[in-house]
Amino acid sequence: MTQDELKQAVARAALDYVVEGKIVGVGTGSTANCFIDALAEIKDRIAGAVASSEATRKRLEGHGIRVFDLNDVTELPVYIDGADEINARMHMIKGGGGALTREKIVAAVAEKFVCIADGSKLVPVLGKFPLPVEAIPMARAQIMRELASLGGTPVVRDGFVTDNGNLIIDLKGLEIADPAALETRLNQIVGVVTNGIFACRPADVCLLGTGEGVKILTAS
Ligand code: 5RP
Repeated sequence: MTQDELKQAVARAALDYVVEGKIVGVGTGSTANCFIDALAEIKDRIAGAVASSEATRKRLEGHGIRVFDLNDVTELPVYIDGADEINARMHMIKGGGGALTREKIVAAVAEKFVCIADGSKLVPVLGKFPLPVEAIPMARAQIMRELASLGGTPVVRDGFVTDNGNLIIDLKGLEIADPAALETRLNQIVGVVTNGIFACRPADVCLLGTGEGVKILTAS
């Protein structure tokens, strides 16, 4: 199976987690796009969706799926999104598409986080994928110094502006032994909006696309 077929398989499997008559939280990226396309087939059975990015909002609306403002939503049974890396404890690196802050906000509201990923995303230790950090532009230089002091190499994502009007700094070369501790520490840096470690609120389940089918993983 190609990587694209694996993404489509996990996206389709995620439909089982969508709660009928309710609003579903929807992530960002190529795997999330496969999910949006699959969701369109059952759009009459849901109340609508909350989007984690402008790109996702546009794709949902393009399919005729109603998109709610998160502030108007009191109940969100499930959030479905991809990941750049995920470990056996369901900790993730996210933000390859730069939507990490809105993704983290929607995930915080959702009762259940379902990660959909092809098998290449499962790693023993997080950090090979550069860790995205969303930064307020005027704090860029200071944040770069602070990130460098952690031992990694910070690189500003060229020409990229987030949906919130901020920069992404990708932190390369870190081996993340304690994801929750690093997530918390990075968020203490003044001017950091959030970072792409999702460990304090990990996924509840991962649907992993493999050559042997879709595996359902939970924290071990
Ligand atoms: C976007 C994300 C995505 O979930 C992550 O980058 C995975 O993307 P893809 O499904 O295209 O591999 O966090 O900000």
